[in-house]
Amino acid sequence: MRPSRVYHRCRVSLILSSTGEFMRQKSRLGNVVLLATCAVATIVLLPGTARAEGNLTLYCSPQIEWCQLLIAAFTKATGIKVAMTRKSSGETFAQIKAEANNPKGDVWWGGTGDPHLQAAEEGLTLEYRSPRLGELQEWATSQAKASGYRTVGIYAGALGFGYNTELVAKKKLPEPKCWKDLARPEFKGEVQVADPNSSGTSYTMLATMVQLLGEAEAFEYLKKLHRNVNQYTKSGSAPIKAAAQGETAVGIVFMHDAVTMAVRGAPIKTIAPCEGTGYEVGSMSIIKGARNLESAKKFYDWALTATAQGLGAKAEAYQVPSNKGAVTPPQAPKLGEIKLIDYDFVKFGSSAERKRLLEKWGKEVKSLPQ
Ligand code: F6P
Repeated sequence: MRPSRVYHRCRVSLILSSTGEFMRQKSRLGNVVLLATCAVATIVLLPGTARAEGNLTLYCSPQIEWCQLLIAAFTKATGIKVAMTRKSSGETFAQIKAEANNPKGDVWWGGTGDPHLQAAEEGLTLEYRSPRLGELQEWATSQAKASGYRTVGIYAGALGFGYNTELVAKKKLPEPKCWKDLARPEFKGEVQVADPNSSGTSYTMLATMVQLLGEAEAFEYLKKLHRNVNQYTKSGSAPIKAAAQGETAVGIVFMHDAVTMAVRGAPIKTIAPCEGTGYEVGSMSIIKGARNLESAKKFYDWALTATAQGLGAKAEAYQVPSNKGAVTPPQAPKLGEIKLIDYDFVKFGSSAERKRLLEKWGKEVKSLPQ
């Protein structure tokens, strides 16, 4: 088969080898070579790959590396050309809502489940029952049931934080083990977390605190924590990247994002907070009014397969996959060993509750001086 070309937007350079092994910048020769240097890039599909058979516009909310690897593998398997943009969960929700009268995206892949549930409730996403639903863990199908099959769980991960062990030692800070430690005066200016309006990670934290402590106490905690926050980032994983570079001592993130930094060699210790913590069911939805509906369904079914979900580990993404047959990466935090709260996805993913909590956080926490 002749080589074919696929154009899409991207930000980083990735190369995927014939064995599916993912390497940054430098690679052996492989089946798929993805060279992405700026806004527009080219995937060259070498012999053995499918011919171009349609288009897909993907809104992707997890790690950019994983998004890139996934679309390259999907194009290789189906020939469908993919245009992809990566934005955080809350941002993507806002974009889909803003585009509701003229939808531009086909599938929203990944990102925390709460805004996917809100999108379902607001009629922004399409009901679809994949023939692969039977292969999924119960936590993934209950997300689908709760949304009237307008979304489905694709991975899970626990919230926590990570800290830079060298920086903590250098600054003679006590080693934080619990949520309450992060609000101690010694941590003033040492904690970074995302803004819950743009980031699903940070909204998960807000909802977790409300469920863990009760609303009044949760807001008291968040106000104290606010004094210690050096920056509210847009993306949920940015704080742990900053911690890895020594720009902040602590980053509040999903634990798997802290593990990624440690795997890459940064002096990051991953913590499951002692009081217990919340978790996400990372989700996927087809956007209502999708222009490429057939391609969207093909992607949806394919993304639920054990093979597609197995790609996460190759991109150093250590979430727990939802397909029962997919291998959970050994580095993934063990959800069974973490004190997880019984996170109420229906309530905290509802449109009214998410809007109310975000507004309250903006008025009562973010507006305070630091
Ligand atoms: O970095 C990966 C990840 O933590 C996913 O597990 C999660 O769904 C997503 O990021 C959330 O990103 P954000 O907080 O930027 O919406």
